Amino acid sequence: MPELTRRRLLAAGAAASGAVAASQLLTAPAAGAAGRRPLAADPFTLGVASGDPLTTAVVIWTRLAVDPLNGGGMPDSPVAVQWQVAQDQSFRKVVRRGVAIADPDLAHSVHVDVRGLEPGRVYWYRFRAGTYVSPAGRTRTIARDPSKLRVALASCQNWQNGYFTPYADMREQEPDIVLFVGDYIYESAPTASAVRVHEGSGEPYSLLQYRNRYAQYKTDPDLLAMHAAAPWIVTFDDHEVDNDFAGDVPQDPAQQSHDAFVSRLTAAYQAYYEHMPVRASAVPNGPHLQMYRSFDFGRLARLNVLDTRQFRSDQTTTQAGAEDPAMTMLGAPQRAWLAGNLASSHARWNLTASQIMMAETDLLAGPGKEWFYDAWDGYQVERNDLLARFRQVDNPVVLSGDRHLTMISDLKRDYADPGSAVVGAEFVGTSISSNGDQDATAFNAMWDPLRGDNPHWKVIDYHRGYHLFDIGERGIDAQVRVVGTVLKPQSASTTLSSLRVDAGRPGVHVV
Ligand SMILES: [Fe+2]
Repeated sequence: MPELTRRRLLAAGAAASGAVAASQLLTAPAAGAAGRRPLAADPFTLGVASGDPLTTAVVIWTRLAVDPLNGGGMPDSPVAVQWQVAQDQSFRKVVRRGVAIADPDLAHSVHVDVRGLEPGRVYWYRFRAGTYVSPAGRTRTIARDPSKLRVALASCQNWQNGYFTPYADMREQEPDIVLFVGDYIYESAPTASAVRVHEGSGEPYSLLQYRNRYAQYKTDPDLLAMHAAAPWIVTFDDHEVDNDFAGDVPQDPAQQSHDAFVSRLTAAYQAYYEHMPVRASAVPNGPHLQMYRSFDFGRLARLNVLDTRQFRSDQTTTQAGAEDPAMTMLGAPQRAWLAGNLASSHARWNLTASQIMMAETDLLAGPGKEWFYDAWDGYQVERNDLLARFRQVDNPVVLSGDRHLTMISDLKRDYADPGSAVVGAEFVGTSISSNGDQDATAFNAMWDPLRGDNPHWKVIDYHRGYHLFDIGERGIDAQVRVVGTVLKPQSASTTLSSLRVDAGRPGVHVV
């Protein structure tokens, strides 16, 4: 057996059983490869994170990097990382522990799938490498049958557009889950005039370049603190790879050959995995990454997390193209998976995390329509089929991002028919920082003339922030939480608007 494979299996076994040298963990110097050469400095510069919680399991994550913006600065050898999960913040009641191997092939990242936990419980976790101990993270498992659930919806954090200040407020709100629906990094080149400038000298293409970009983003203190405060459920959109890419087609096929773009995808997906608290089932296979998956919160909610980027047809450029039945957003296997998950659900709420907006945006004031082809509007037949399915599903709610604005809408069976039934609700959760501070007058001048063409919009707004949902058996109370500015490292937060989705009554209304 190759040495690397054997080590990985050992690491996986240790993670699963949590049974390695229990009494010595976090007390003795690290054994194995790490012991041969001490780490040059604290390797926990990128913090800790947790994610993909189940009732009895959660993934805990870290990445060792003594020089995070320059490839990590780690030795080209595996490093043993001890981990602990405790019931208390002071780690007196440690319930799981083990040793994971931080492998240079995965940028010395660690993804431990901690099993055998109790449902609906808060846990604390930490790591040790050499003589260094990480900050402690806080996470929680899903209750077997929760009566309520608090979810924060976030997306789109462009480093160059501002500080990630909305996370400071999110942390105070203590969500059970952070749902991040894409654009965790932006691949754009450094812009000298930006409020914060991207590292590097251009767009990332290589694995090293993507790793450095993720590392830079993870130096934002509010982002790091939010990762340490709650489990995240993440999916990616386009900017984790290349703006507006579709499957293996780049934004600019004339400038990136197919082979070059496949290499870029491979690098981008690997760096994504390396930096996200997701299960090893998401280890990329070359230019493929398995990210669509679902989570059950007892009878309260089922969450289907989509991948609307990897399997889609290349974007159309015409209204007629958007209505072509050959256009797919999900690809046949994911479409069947989603249909099955919707049909089999007994949950009160059926939540869909979609990177891109599902409700119609008619961009043409007055008669006729003009659609935004990168979102579901560009894939009308498949979108309308999904909306038809939503009529058969209990309380569908779509949570999406991408647009860098708050857009909260009724989902309608058929947007071509003004009298069509409302089948659900959608929240487009603005952005953490992308587009920066926007000018209200310019925003309203652009969007106000379109309100009459889009009567399904309930709230449309330009502020940076996130959406917060208190999901209960009888309804969802939603808040649009916004900050005053992202151009400074701190900003006060307020609730811009409060909305309600009542169980059994499709649609959303402002409270
Ligand atoms: Fe974005």
